[in-house]
Amino acid sequence: MSRFLSGALKGLRPYVPGEQPQDRKYIKLNTNESPFPPAPGVEEAVRVQARALNLYSDPDGLPLRRALGAAYGLAEGNVSLGNGSDEVLSHLFTAFLRGRGAAFPDVTYGFYPVLCSLEGIPFKEVPLRGDFTVNVADYAAINVPVVLANPNAQTGVYLPPGQIEELVLQNRDRLVIIDEAYVDFGGSSCVPLVKKYDNLVVVQTMSKSRSLAGARLGCCFACEELIAETEAVRRSLNPYNVNRMTMAAALESLSARDYFEKCTREIASVREYTATKLKNMGFEVLPSLANFLLARHGAVSGAELYRRLKERGVLVRHFGGRIDGFIRVTIGTREQTDVFLALAGRILAEVTYENG
Ligand SMILES: Cc1ncc(COP(=O)(O)O)c(C=O)c1O
Repeated sequence: MSRFLSGALKGLRPYVPGEQPQDRKYIKLNTNESPFPPAPGVEEAVRVQARALNLYSDPDGLPLRRALGAAYGLAEGNVSLGNGSDEVLSHLFTAFLRGRGAAFPDVTYGFYPVLCSLEGIPFKEVPLRGDFTVNVADYAAINVPVVLANPNAQTGVYLPPGQIEELVLQNRDRLVIIDEAYVDFGGSSCVPLVKKYDNLVVVQTMSKSRSLAGARLGCCFACEELIAETEAVRRSLNPYNVNRMTMAAALESLSARDYFEKCTREIASVREYTATKLKNMGFEVLPSLANFLLARHGAVSGAELYRRLKERGVLVRHFGGRIDGFIRVTIGTREQTDVFLALAGRILAEVTYENG
């Protein structure tokens, strides 16, 4: 550590994203990306903007904000954009959690505690129930802003909008941030609720359901006052945070409604197929409405299963802590999934044989 590092950052443990190995070709089922390419018109839209890269991007992003808002009957003043939803989250944490604190489930997106550490925000981790569901009543007495991923990260478990509304109503003077990174794979969005409640912000991303992880486009929806404050933070950090190619890609993707529906439907269908096959092999699989499954098997540890799959060219994710026994598998194409399932079956047979 240099002697120049800010004292406040000495203990910072940065977020560790899923591996993006370059050493060989893997079937990548580890970072919840889409297995499908972006919508057909995206490539040309990006090419057109590439010719104008000498010019800064639009610092207001109004056409895209308008298009995103229109899908929910909202205006551009209800939408803010970010370089991925990670950046949107960082704007929100700076604007609304700094100096206040935060609460989120003990099993959730690992970026939340990292952002809190970076910003010096004290946070409370609220244990999920034994079945990994959120108990809304556990938040009733919490007075700091609440952050929930829905469906939840790492588990895929989903909370219906009625329960989110209950959470929002527990305390109208407490902000609730709902991160809907995975909502398009079978859940219902809470965005319509922002018309009713000024203490709700909903975050979304184009990284998963719109196959644009590499483009980096996230957004949030809220009442005009909250968006104006989020925008003030965004402009203070980087007014050109969304580049012109990404803005064009996102607009094009929004207009390709049929393609979006086809891809998300296919992922939901492969998810159900994969869950059934895993259960038939003796896995416990958490009910997921996301583009991934969290699964464990009594015969093999999560770490060992992850290692043996990687050796054979399939990357999944393994986390420690309360979900140490599980692996998280991103839903790929049916073909990728069949390779994963066949290998998982072979590994289980091997492990059973080795353990006599
Ligand atoms: C719950 C959740 N929120 C946000 C993100 C960040 O997505 P992005 O920055 O690509 O929009 C992720 C990524 O995995 C996630 O799981």
